[in-house]
Amino acid sequence: MPNTILIGSQWGDEGKGKIIDVLTAQADMIVRYQGGSNAGHTVIAEGKKRVLRLVPSGILHEGKVCVIGNGVVMNPLDLIEEIEMLRSTGVECKGRLFISTRTQMVMLYHRALDRADEAARPEGKKIGTTGRGIGPAYAAKVSRTGLRCGDMLIPEFPELVREQVLETNVKLAQLNAEALDADEMVQTYIEAAEKLRPYIVDTIPLIHKADREGKSLLLEGAQGTMLDIDFGTYPFVTSSNPTSGGACIGSGLSPRRIDRVVGVIKAYTTRVGEGPFPTEDFGDVGKTLAERGHEFGAVTGRPRRCGWFDAVVARYAQMVNGVDFWTLTKLDVMDTLPEIKICVAYELDGKRIEDMPASAAELARCKPIYETMPGWLEETSNVTAMDQLPLKAKAYVERLVELSGGRLGILSVGPARESTIRVGI
Ligand code: IMP
Repeated sequence: MPNTILIGSQWGDEGKGKIIDVLTAQADMIVRYQGGSNAGHTVIAEGKKRVLRLVPSGILHEGKVCVIGNGVVMNPLDLIEEIEMLRSTGVECKGRLFISTRTQMVMLYHRALDRADEAARPEGKKIGTTGRGIGPAYAAKVSRTGLRCGDMLIPEFPELVREQVLETNVKLAQLNAEALDADEMVQTYIEAAEKLRPYIVDTIPLIHKADREGKSLLLEGAQGTMLDIDFGTYPFVTSSNPTSGGACIGSGLSPRRIDRVVGVIKAYTTRVGEGPFPTEDFGDVGKTLAERGHEFGAVTGRPRRCGWFDAVVARYAQMVNGVDFWTLTKLDVMDTLPEIKICVAYELDGKRIEDMPASAAELARCKPIYETMPGWLEETSNVTAMDQLPLKAKAYVERLVELSGGRLGILSVGPARESTIRVGI
């Protein structure tokens, strides 16, 4: 398989976990390049359902090497829990999972800060974060006060943790939140460092050696294009770059070594948390999509907001990421809808626009301009080839790809590995 970046094209939750799992079969090394345990990749394999937040789902395939890249913010306690969960289900990470010495850590004090900051924001200014400390950890990285995984290997580590807890306590006091116990926290992280030590290495030579030897690399992103700190609906975004450019920054692999970009896109749209969402449906359609699509956050359990496919979002994702192949997911969720709408453009202050506005306030004023297609009203979840699709479903898929640009690579019609139709890749 050529070196591949896999990205989410909407507001996350496009079904990347399953597609990564499918593509992993042809990859040798899987590198996660951004985000943290705010993401939840659900993988159903051999009847077992597992939610992975930090460890690349490649770990579920024997012999694959998995890397947590420098662009990730890694919560040591969450990672230990995940490694233990995997071990208890028969998957050993030692010798197959490597964490970059350059990976920033999300500490308990970042989580406290995330929650206190969100609680202190007035209505309308809340982001609706996952409360996992992601924003404060990336802020610490940029402010140059962050601790990296490599710091767990040096004798000064306990003192570095203590310093950060004490500094955070000052900020927490300003937000009227409770102070944290520095001694307790130092002890927690000394123990965590002991457990994670065997996994922490300089992953740059590791990745490059694999590439030089002709191994296939799969770079997996979390969240999606519209949650990107630069390209998303700022400020209602996450704090990293899920878009394809982030893959090189977050792994240390040069852009010249990337062969293709695969964009995962759902046949309708969802969003969790606050922020504009032009095609959101507050009626029966939204309810049907939520129920049939099990649209609840894999990490927070929050219900996801649901609505029609938005081709303005898809075209934008195409531009920003350079998608070579689309992977269209969850088509089966729409099987019972008699009529289906696609947003082809927006109306903003009385004018038709085709491109994504940069301002979230403008996007909030955008009204979708819809095209309507008939529903197929037949089950698609048992379809195994494109020519078995009901004609109306096929027409819908073709229209989405036409509006989005690029080619169809994979069509997914159910959560299991088996419910996957390979078309172009
Ligand atoms: P944070 O990443 O926890 O700071 O949250 C910022 C925004 O990104 C919120 O709207 C979250 O709901 C959203 N978000 C973060 N991770 C995910 C994800 O994996 N799927 C969908 N939305 C997410």
